[in-house]
Amino acid sequence: MNNGYKTAIGMMSGTSADGIDACLVKIYDDLKFEFIAGHALDYPEEIREKLLNIANNNGKTEDICYMDFAVGKLFAKCANELIEKTGISQSGVDFIASHGQTVFHHPTPVNCAGISTGSTLQIGNISVIAENTGVTTVGNFRTRDIAAGGQGAPLVPFADELIFGRKIPRCIQNIGGIANVTVLSPECKTFAFDTGPGNMLIDYCMKKYFDIPYDKDGRIACSGVIDEDWLEMLLKEPYYALNPPKTTGRELFNDLYAERILQNAPLNKCDIIATISALSAKTIFDAYNRFVLPKTGIKEIVIGGGGAYNKFLTGLLKKYFGHIPVKTHADFNINDKFKEAISFALLGYCTINKIPNNLPICTGAAKRVAMGEIAY
Ligand SMILES: Nc1ncnc2c1ncn2[C@@H]1O[C@H](COP(=O)(O)OP(=O)(O)O)[C@@H](O)[C@H]1O
Ligand SMILES: [Mg+2]
Repeated sequence: MNNGYKTAIGMMSGTSADGIDACLVKIYDDLKFEFIAGHALDYPEEIREKLLNIANNNGKTEDICYMDFAVGKLFAKCANELIEKTGISQSGVDFIASHGQTVFHHPTPVNCAGISTGSTLQIGNISVIAENTGVTTVGNFRTRDIAAGGQGAPLVPFADELIFGRKIPRCIQNIGGIANVTVLSPECKTFAFDTGPGNMLIDYCMKKYFDIPYDKDGRIACSGVIDEDWLEMLLKEPYYALNPPKTTGRELFNDLYAERILQNAPLNKCDIIATISALSAKTIFDAYNRFVLPKTGIKEIVIGGGGAYNKFLTGLLKKYFGHIPVKTHADFNINDKFKEAISFALLGYCTINKIPNNLPICTGAAKRVAMGEIAY
């Protein structure tokens, strides 16, 4: 069906492994879109634990293999619930585009049995999604970019450029498990990189000290005091000073990392949460000063992802950036929670239409490619 637009479902689950975000969007031939509805499915506790276990390199081959199917079924469930919620039929959806759940990402080539290669793995099998929804499903975006010599990340800047354009110099700051920025400006080519941890270390500490998965609205952080000495120590992590392009993830900021830094933590549990949250805000601020402002001035910052709801974190960003306004995607009528899911719907539209959808300037790929694989 083509009335000048396609109806699509975009689905995303990021490094937080908190759950699946799905959105229903209309995508027009000129790549403009209209958000219709969103739906989220939290991972059941046992699934999340298993995923984090695998992501921390503690999974057996059979765990990864079964989880590929189990997570595929959950993605399908999430899509079906969204379809039901909106009252359209399966046949009214032209395609699903699913990022899947990353369990391993090492794009830099290593010697593997005498063959030099990078690698990435997103689970949540697209055949399982297609079969359980009855809708053609696109997925496995990152592999093609790595095959073309890229980092397979970041992929969202392609959508950021489509959504915001480059006329006004802006930073689009996603605060997921990891925090990443896209710099859009007429003064330079679009570039993007991971600034460091977003919610990942906060979530780990919330689970450890409060036995709850995250710091809702940043309330616990707000009740603590930043330990400036510990913060200074944490800022010495070499990743922050590396020049972009750079990406990071659970490969660095994992449980072991958290335990190592917590050896020097203050005694008060709320102060730990305040300081570890300040680390996310401060590394964003430092990264802009080091790597963005020398290339372009910025008129505004647009934050998104789950971290946009953390008032302690956003309050600090507003304080650090002073006169530069810190907005949210909601200020542009884009749902903060579903922005990344929307981005993958746009990427999937390109896959289906064979339109190149990587930005080599951001991923380091040797050429533009149409990323994504299709299960009909
Ligand atoms: N209301 C909220 N207050 C504070 N933090 C939140 C809130 N909602 C979500 N988050 C944080 O955002 C994280 C999920 O963000 P998300 O953008 O989905 O990240 P990812 O892409 O890594 O999955 C949660 O793990 C939590 O830390
Ligand atoms: Mg998430």
